[in-house]
Amino acid sequence: MNVEKGYVDAPVDPSLNLKEEILRLKKEKGAVIMAHYYQRGEIQEIADYIGDSLALARIAAKIEAPVIVMCGVHFMGETAKVLCPGKKVLIPDLNAGCSLADSCPADKLEQFIKEHPGHTVISYVNTTAAVKALTDIVVTSGNARKIVEALPEDEKIIFGPDRNLGNYINGVTGRSMVLWDGACHVHEKFSLEKIMELKQQHPQAKILVHPECKKPLQMIADKVGSTAVLLDFARTDSAEEFIVATESGILFEMQRSCPDKLFIPAPPNDSTCACNDCSYMKLNTMEKLYNCLLHEAPEVTVAPELMEAARRPIDRMLEMSK
Ligand code: 13P
Ligand code: SF4
Repeated sequence: MNVEKGYVDAPVDPSLNLKEEILRLKKEKGAVIMAHYYQRGEIQEIADYIGDSLALARIAAKIEAPVIVMCGVHFMGETAKVLCPGKKVLIPDLNAGCSLADSCPADKLEQFIKEHPGHTVISYVNTTAAVKALTDIVVTSGNARKIVEALPEDEKIIFGPDRNLGNYINGVTGRSMVLWDGACHVHEKFSLEKIMELKQQHPQAKILVHPECKKPLQMIADKVGSTAVLLDFARTDSAEEFIVATESGILFEMQRSCPDKLFIPAPPNDSTCACNDCSYMKLNTMEKLYNCLLHEAPEVTVAPELMEAARRPIDRMLEMSK
């Protein structure tokens, strides 16, 4: 099957009921569909598992099905492959990358590590397998604080690649980790001014902020946390209105689990759009997912020589975040 473009470029009969077809193919192939909260609503709706990066890694580690379709971005597919080397891991579009992972090339990190001898290397899960192979412990936004706090106070740490998450963890733990200067293009472009305007229009609304956002946003937040933490806060807090500063896909699950509450997407600073999408996450569509299952392509692969080295820090994360 031709996947030159990074996805199966085959026409899809417009009369097909894609939801039914995907569910049928999934059963036929013994596949499970995993989806990150930033996926399109229709994909989250048919996924077997939805979650944040931490939940998806935890689930992947235990999956028994022979085929995993990762509806997320490439590093999530790689993490699943590293945890399940014997399984076929598919992704609807291999072009679903990540600006944050791109901000930390393995060769540059290797040099950075050499310049900081004696440091424990902690990497956010939003990294390539090659970067994970240089890492001592992987973290997600859902467990970074807990893992850093579990290390001795005088431990010297390199933290990468997200400078905003790193600064946030330094702030809440009182550590002074050396930070890699990387960022996510989606989370960095929320507009503080537009959020403050929304807050004036909705004075009762609580502000939910992902730690990949810049510090001024974190400072005005009622809650800073991973997508799963923000979702949990929205479900359990007594507020009825929330301004949500993370990728807008999360609003689907927030609205589904709290139909009577109002969720307002925080706007970016560079357009007239009301919400902020990750263009990589949104590359996965129902058509590509259908073709991916039908043709069992494209597959996520990880170089055999990286498998073991990339797995060690992920296992350490899973162990430390139990
Ligand atoms: P979490 O899934 O850890 O909230 O991270 C968000 C993210 O940017 C994933 O790409
Ligand atoms: Fe990467 Fe940012 Fe997209 Fe998450 S939202 S996948 S960190 S570019």
